[in-house]
Parts: sequence; structure tokens; C-alpha cells
Amino acid sequence: MTIHDAYRAKHSKSAALAERARKVIPGGITHDIRHLTPFPVYVDRASGTRKWDVDGNEYIDYWMGHGALFLGHCHPAVVKAVQTQMARGTHLGASHELEVRWAELVNQLVPCAELTRFTMSGTEATHLAMRVARAYTGRPKVLKLAGHFHGWHDGAVAAVNPPYEVPMSAGVPGATMDQVVICPPNDVKAVEVALGRGDVAAVILEPAGGQAGMTPTIPGYLHELRALTARHNVVLIFDEVITGFRYAPGGAQEYFNVTPDLTTLAKIVAGGLPGGALCGRREIMSVIAFRGNPDWDRSQRVAHAGTFNANPLCAAAAIATLELCADASLQARANKAGEELRRGLGDAMKRLGVPGTCYGEASIYHVSFEGKPGLAGFDRPRQGLLYHLLRCALLNEGVDCSMNHGWVSAVHTDEDIERTIQAYTRAFQAMVADRAFGA
Ligand SMILES: Cc1ncc(COP(=O)(O)O)c(C=O)c1O
Repeated sequence: MTIHDAYRAKHSKSAALAERARKVIPGGITHDIRHLTPFPVYVDRASGTRKWDVDGNEYIDYWMGHGALFLGHCHPAVVKAVQTQMARGTHLGASHELEVRWAELVNQLVPCAELTRFTMSGTEATHLAMRVARAYTGRPKVLKLAGHFHGWHDGAVAAVNPPYEVPMSAGVPGATMDQVVICPPNDVKAVEVALGRGDVAAVILEPAGGQAGMTPTIPGYLHELRALTARHNVVLIFDEVITGFRYAPGGAQEYFNVTPDLTTLAKIVAGGLPGGALCGRREIMSVIAFRGNPDWDRSQRVAHAGTFNANPLCAAAAIATLELCADASLQARANKAGEELRRGLGDAMKRLGVPGTCYGEASIYHVSFEGKPGLAGFDRPRQGLLYHLLRCALLNEGVDCSMNHGWVSAVHTDEDIERTIQAYTRAFQAMVADRAFGA
């Protein structure tokens, strides 16, 4: 039986739901990354490191809420906090103590954080960061690195995937794209030349490398970037939506020992519920604050609203999560499990003659059929269909992950890791049998 035959046989209820979905939702999915050929699985429930689909299949999960669930699904402390708050009100239409405690925790854990403002997503956090940097410096442009992802708003769609001259999305005005300066990753000279023009407000990047570290940052690069941006009075923004609280309690900036001016957060920061944050230096963050001066308040301040910002339900989940994430032993454990998984998957690929490799850092792994990218990242579109086939093969074998990477949580066990390596081995064997890599 081919991978797709087995997939269809195991997932008939998912197939029916996908059919229904296509009639009422564009493309049948609600996030581009859930696009899967021939159809996605529909998951019914989850607990710990496991989840179960509508056909009753069980999976060891490395998708983990797109990386938001560092404590696994339904961690008892988070469930209790949310249930308690649910009965006390989901939106109080007012300031409340939980948002203060949440901000205190972020400021305590993240090295650059002196003040924190909450949003409802990582996309909103990077959007706000760019606006704050522009208002603070009075300059129009934002420099981003090719291959780095900062959400889906207009200011972030440039140069996400090769070919980098084609934006990630249609529908963005050229005038907006003109405000974005693109540099190759790991090339501090290129950033130096761009900053020399004097019109750049901020440099934004994923500190561990583009798209969850797929193009890893070379040693020394972040330190050089820090010195360079400081010299030009340009705001350095670390987008730690992925790395925040995962690489270390203080995120990648603690892990690499480089402190940016601003940091964007989402995923783990909200404890598996929706939410994000922008935090950073007091002087810069204060451009959002009212001063009681009519001119400042009306025409110089950065406006920021959002009905559900810091709502008490998300705040409750976030506090329960961050209080646990403050203990570095959780990250140490997840990082070690990540290392074992990467080694096991890399060995399996080599043993079976599967092209490419498995790599990554901390608790993230990437399976790449193109091998590890060069310093400037992947220079051409990747072999999309191979990754779709791998995901189907893996789902057949009881493992779920994102298209080509996975997030190890602090609760994955040695047995989970061992079973996952075995499942990947069988999935790779099925791909070889399907002649996915050629005759
Ligand atoms: C580095 C990075 N920045 C921003 C975002 C956008 O976050 P959200 O999906 O919460 O809008 C993501 C999402 O995966 C991300 O990985």
C-alpha cells in the first residue's frame, strides 16, 4: 500500500470533514501551515504529549500548539488556572491584577524587558514593535533578514521564502514594501551598509535564525549586530515568538547572551491560549504611554488598542505557565530531549540512505531533505511535496509535527523520543518504498 493509500484508509472521518470544510472555509483551512496534501487530519482532543484524531488514531505530538505548549497539552496547573478564571469572568472590560502579575513575570524573565505591553498574537506584537521603533526614532524603514518570519501583517511579508524578491502574500501595496530593507542573514557587512543610509528605524530578526532556526545564526553575529545597531541608534528587535521561554527562561537573548532593545513574544508567553507581547527598554516602550500632555497624547504617542489584549483568561494560563518556565531545569530537559531526537533522526536518515539531514538547536528539530542551508539560507524553493508525503507517512505511524520541524516540550519522555525515532524510521522506509527519492 502506498503512503497515501494508507493515509486515506486510516483517516476517513478527517477526509469527510476536509470535504465539508472546503465548502465553507477558503482552502478548507484556517492557517496556511495546516495545508496538507491530500487533506489534513482533524484532531479531537489532546493531553500531555498525545493527541487523538476524529478517527481514533493516537499521535505523539511535536506540533504542540505551533510551539505554544511548552508544558504539553492540558498541563494541570494551566487547566486549573483557566477553569478558576473562567468562573470569575473572561473579559472584565477593565484593568485587572492578573495583567500586572503577567507583565511582572515577563519583566523578571526576559533580560531586555523593563516594560511589557500585551497583544493577542505574535503578528500583532511585531506590528506594534515596528510602529514603536518608527515613532521612537522618527525614521521610516525597517530592516529584516531574508528567510525570517514575523507574522502575516503587511510590514512582514517581504523575503520570507525563496525566491525572496516575491513577497509571502499578494495584496500588499508597493509603498508598504518600499519601507522594508532586506539583508541576507549572517551578513553583518550588508546591515552596516544599509544602516549607513540613515533611514532605518529598526532591525528585526529571529535571534536563533530564520523560521525557528532553520538557517541558524552563526556565532558572533548577534553580538556584532548589537554593537552595530547601538552605534547607529537603530532599535534592535528580537522576535522571540518561538524562542521566548523555550531556549532558556529568558529566551534566546539569555541563551546567546545578547540583549536587544525590544522583544516580541507570543506562543509560550500566553500559556497555550491566544496572546502575545512587546517588551523592552523603558525609554522606547514609553512611546505608548499617555503623558497627560494633549499634544503628545494625540499626535506623538503610539496608539495601541485590542479588545482582548491581556484578557484575564489568557493571563491566568500565562501566569501558570511562566511561573513554571522560570525553572531552567525544564528548558534543560527539553533541550536534552531535542538533542537526542535530532541525533536519532539524523542517524536514521543516514542508515536508510534518505537524502538530507536533521538539525536544530535547543528543543527544536528540522528535517531537511535539502541538507543544512548555507549561511544565507535556502536559495530556492524546497521540495514541498516531499514534506507533505513525510507528514502523511508520519501521521500513519502515530507522530504529528509541523511540516518540516517539531517542537519538543518539557514533558516529552525518553520513551516518547524512542518511539518517535522508530516512527520516523518506518515513515522514511515507506517513503523509500514509494520511490519518493527516485528509483
Ligand atoms: C518568529 C515568529 N514571529 C511571529 C509569528 C506570528 O505569530 P502569530 O502566529 O501568533 O501571529 C510567528 C508564528 O509562528 C513566528 O514564528
